[in-house]
Amino acid sequence: MGAYEDVFRASTEDPEAFWLDAAQAIDWHVAPTRALDVSRPPFYRWFPDGELNVCHNALDRHVDAGRGEQAALIYDSPVTDTQRTYTYAHLRDEVARFAGVLAGLGVGRGDRVVIYMPMVPEAAIAMLACARIGAVHSVVFGGFAPKELAVRIDDAAPRVVVSASCGIEGKRVIEYKPLLDQAIELAAHAPAKRVILQRPQAEATLGPDDVDWAEATAAAEPAECVPVKATDPLYILYTSGTTGKPKGVVRDGGGHAVALRWSMPNVYDVGPGETIFTASDVGWVVGHSYIVYAPLLTGATTVLYEGKPVGTPDAGQFWRVVAEHGVKSLFTAPTAFRAIKKEDPDGEFTRKYDISGLHYLFLAGERLDPETYRWAADLLGIPVIDHWWQTETGWPIVANPAGIELLPIKPGSPTRPLPGWDVQVLDTSGTPVEPGTDGAIVVKLPMPPGSLPTLWNDDERFVQSYMSAFEGYYLTGDGGRLDEDGYVFVMGRTDDVINVAGHRLSTGGMEEVLASHADVAECAVIGVADVLKGQVPRGFVVLKAGVQRDEDELRAELVQLVRDQVGAVASLKDVAVVAGLPKTRSGKILRKTMRGIADGADEPVPSTIDDPAVLDALRPVLRRS
Ligand code: COA
Ligand code: AMP
Repeated sequence: MGAYEDVFRASTEDPEAFWLDAAQAIDWHVAPTRALDVSRPPFYRWFPDGELNVCHNALDRHVDAGRGEQAALIYDSPVTDTQRTYTYAHLRDEVARFAGVLAGLGVGRGDRVVIYMPMVPEAAIAMLACARIGAVHSVVFGGFAPKELAVRIDDAAPRVVVSASCGIEGKRVIEYKPLLDQAIELAAHAPAKRVILQRPQAEATLGPDDVDWAEATAAAEPAECVPVKATDPLYILYTSGTTGKPKGVVRDGGGHAVALRWSMPNVYDVGPGETIFTASDVGWVVGHSYIVYAPLLTGATTVLYEGKPVGTPDAGQFWRVVAEHGVKSLFTAPTAFRAIKKEDPDGEFTRKYDISGLHYLFLAGERLDPETYRWAADLLGIPVIDHWWQTETGWPIVANPAGIELLPIKPGSPTRPLPGWDVQVLDTSGTPVEPGTDGAIVVKLPMPPGSLPTLWNDDERFVQSYMSAFEGYYLTGDGGRLDEDGYVFVMGRTDDVINVAGHRLSTGGMEEVLASHADVAECAVIGVADVLKGQVPRGFVVLKAGVQRDEDELRAELVQLVRDQVGAVASLKDVAVVAGLPKTRSGKILRKTMRGIADGADEPVPSTIDDPAVLDALRPVLRRS
């Protein structure tokens, strides 16, 4: 048996011992004596009697152990032409001071802080400052519109919101403050204060409830780490579900710290003093886990990159970052590589920089199509590792565990389940299917540390969304299969969630926006295949009887409405006005059938269809790419 098999078996044979052993890599205020509390399934609790502070583990302990002068975080921003390196000592001091600002604004243990920021180091500083004083952060991706931010503010009810005057998208400066002001106006909950980081590209006018980041930090006393229970929430991260209301995924501090710390050497093969560059955004789970927490918990160096893989200034930026900062593992979404491939198909830029120190390319966030896999693998000549996980799980479920043993790669598969993850594929009746047969991908409970213990203030939705389809299993929402070697193939979501350029979005949420237009009687939004972004949304609307509109004008209004209400990140550019939508006899829109036809599949007409003529009329519109 190989090393992977041994480690995996150890995790299934005695999970208590396995995870208590992994927990030794964390500094505990009170060391846990038990790994898992199973007394209230499906609400499992990891390290129930442990106490720790995650910020201490991410910063102070490394300074205390002599890593104070090592680079902790390198901010690399081609869009502002800035580079700044924070050593562990410097980052600890900045975080302690900002924690003092928050404490001075009345933020205490258990209070929520919403962070709505571009990719600047202060976003990570604000997250860690919350962790330092036992507050719960909720980072909202900067590409979301005010309404989405307002929904999250109302759900999390933060005492303070931390934001910046602007973000930079390529050559465009996006002012954040007006978006924040609108969101606060829309929200029912009123945060007591907003802390605003002024950026020189567009300074914001501050009002009476606004606090200037720089002024407040200069005046603040540093705050010390507050020990909290391992089961206390570290953060809430909202993610798209089937409806427009996002799900507030809760992350506990102890289980998360143990799992992420374990994953760094074993999955990403990155140890103390080594550098990882995760090109994502702190607004997504990949950014939370592998830009901020995991590298810092490990005493590694993390690169926080503000910019796109292509465009400003060119498609060579990832390679420049790798060369300049000595990156060992690079992690991004496949879409970033498709964008680079489009601009630089022969990989000219890889020859411009010395990237010989790069050992691995990790890709996740959406399906890695075999063509992109082959292009990247041929170009780089290093392992290109697809791995599969979700906001809910916090760290990879299925991966090629580079630090344990590099398993043979099968293009199209993220390889095999990591320790702690009992991945199975079930048919609709809940019976495991044969290898090679598609079904619902589920994880047998309990899941390992780091995975979500519940949804914020909504145990009922947690059970209904994830735990009730198949008793004793977590429903991932992805469909796919296992092969005879135990490799997992993830084929796509089985619900109304789509992945656009690695960004998880709800088609249900977009439908709610289209349906709110005065001229729209009913609508459907489906995700269709896209060569660059993996998937993009397409909307179909049926107008109310008697409405006469110029179609181009109406389409433009609808596209703008989604941009205003969900955000530019929704990337809904294509809305068709149609005579009718295909439905079952009970009135359910046949979105899956529509999706199949749009993607060019020979989709059978469901026997439950109400009026096949409606589908026939829609076919040419669906087939138009
Ligand atoms: N703030 C404001 N607007 C934002 C934003 C932010 N943080 N992030 C994205 N947007 C805007 C973009 O400017 C774009 O606006 P536009 O329609 O006016 O051009 C829109 O939202 C769509 O963004 P995106 O889907 O990212 O498209 P893009 O063409 O700007 O870039 C990629 C495409 C593939 C280069 C880019 O998405 C990428 O690098 N993705 C991979 C990395 C990643 O972030 N993965 C996430 C999870 S791992
Ligand atoms: P998010 O919660 O934003 O990380 O998105 C999670 C979803 O992205 C998963 O449920 C999958 O649909 C998709 N996903 C992530 N990684 C992969 C992968 N390696 N292969 C296929 N799909 C993936």
